[in-house]
This record gives sequence, C-alpha cells and structure tokens, in this order.
Amino acid sequence: MTELKGKTALITGASRGIGAALAEGMAAHGADIILCDLAREEAGLAKTKAAVEAQGRRCQVLPLDVTNKAAIEAVVAQAGQIDILVNNAGILKPSRLQDLSEADWDAHFDVNAKGVLLMTNAVLPQMRARKAGRIINIASIAGRQGVPTQGHYAATKATAITLTRVYAQEVGMDGITVNAICPGIILTEMGRNNLGSDAAVQHWTEVAALKRLGDPKDIVGPAVFFASDLSNFVTGQALNVCGGIYFH
Ligand SMILES: NC(=O)c1ccc[n+]([C@@H]2O[C@H](COP(=O)([O-])OP(=O)(O)OC[C@H]3O[C@@H](n4cnc5c(N)ncnc54)[C@H](O)[C@@H]3O)[C@@H](O)[C@H]2O)c1
Repeated sequence: MTELKGKTALITGASRGIGAALAEGMAAHGADIILCDLAREEAGLAKTKAAVEAQGRRCQVLPLDVTNKAAIEAVVAQAGQIDILVNNAGILKPSRLQDLSEADWDAHFDVNAKGVLLMTNAVLPQMRARKAGRIINIASIAGRQGVPTQGHYAATKATAITLTRVYAQEVGMDGITVNAICPGIILTEMGRNNLGSDAAVQHWTEVAALKRLGDPKDIVGPAVFFASDLSNFVTGQALNVCGGIYFH
C-alpha cells in the first residue's frame, strides 16, 4: 500500500490508542512517521516506534505537550519536512457541567482546542512555503451531538470542527487541505474509561448499526483518505467514523 509513499506524518498523542494505530497504519500505507506525546509516555512511544519501524518506515520520537507553544515550535523546527499533521492528542475526564471545576474546563480546552491551534499554526508556514499539506483533526461525534457528562469535552470537539472549517478556508489557496474525523466509541483507554461498565459496552454495541464498537484501527482508512491524493478535492469536512451510532 503506497498512498502515502514519500510523505512524512507528524501525529500527536501517539503513545497509545488511536494515535498509535494511526502511526502504524499510516506507516503501512508508506509514510514515515514523527511521533509526539507527553515525555512521560516514553514507554508507549517506544512501542509505537517499534511498530512503525516493523512496517519498514522511518520513525522519529519528539516528545511535546500540545499546550506548550515554545515546545511545539522547537519540535517543529527539529522535525524537518512535515507533509501531514494529525492533531490527535486529547483528554476526557467526564463530569456533569454543574459539577465541573474551572481547572478541568481549562485543561480540556487547552489540550483539545488550543492544542489544535498551536500545532497547526506551527506547521503551516512550511506547508505554505511548499504549497502542499494535509491536516487532520481528530474531533468526536460528541462535538456534534453533545453528550451528558461530556459537555466540556464536547464543546472542545465542536471547536475542533469549527477550526477545521475555518482553517480550510484560510489555507486552501496554498494547496493545503484540512479535514476532521469524528470517531464514535473506540475501545481505547479513553473509550473504555468513558463507557465505564460492561452494560454500557453492550448497550452501545446494540445501538450501533454495525453491531460492534470501534477498534483504533478503524480510524486508519479515513485518515489515509484525508492524508492522500484520494481526497484532493475534499476540505473543511468532518467525517463520522462511528459504526452507525450517529447520523448528522
Ligand atoms: N476513544 C474514543 O472513543 C474516542 C472517541 C472520539 C474521539 N476520540 C479522540 O481521539 C483522540 C485519541 O483518543 P484515544 O481514545 O486514543 O485516547 P487515549 O487517552 O488512549 O490517548 C490520548 C493520547 O493523547 C496524549 N495526550 C494527552 N494530553 C496531551 C498533551 N497535552 N500533549 C501531548 N499529548 C497528549 C496522551 O498521552 C495519549 O497518548 C482524542 O483526541 C480523543 O478525544 C476518542
């Protein structure tokens, strides 16, 4: 599979879950990979790096916190050419809005919304100079629907979708596309914590049109589509990848 041959993808939040699956999957489609995550996620990053290299692709690990503008700028300067940026890092700590602390509101917006802004702004100049680039934001169906105990998270993901649409219009003339993927329930650490119980897993499995919940690998195909020439005329879009639990 060679859709991404000769391209380099930088993926945030790549130590586990969807980010790790995207790293391995995009490598399987021919991309070299730059893995970014918090420095404390060293073990997961090493595991993802091994999985990328097992696909025969090159892999750099550059730890960063997506809320830290100076760290991001240093990493992007060190990274070399970035053809594809995947803004995947995210956090979810469920709480009803009326019980939510101000610190948790800020933390979610810092990572899930400001992180997208800071990463994108740091990578755009080199993409603009080459008149080419692909940006993929991992949002959520929660950002479209709004979900009880995830109001703050949903608001950050709605912001990520809005940033996707606005960036697409601001950078399209430079040959850069910007699209979002809105996963449904994907069985990662975040997905499992969020569901909480076997009963919830069973309920949502029955609700899903495809009668199963998501595997991180389910996000790879849509990401390769948005990252490759297969989607040359697609920008500013948000695609639900949810097995049929949400339809708008
Ligand atoms: N799992 C789901 O059901 C689901 C559904 C919809 C959307 N998503 C989104 O997909 C993305 C990946 O989620 P996941 O399920 O793999 O979650 P996860 O918790 O397994 O992984 C998230 C990754 O982001 C990293 N991260 C957190 N804060 C960071 C920061 N400040 N800087 C850099 N990295 C940071 C974590 O260390 C971790 O590696 C997130 O944006 C999440 O909101 C997940």
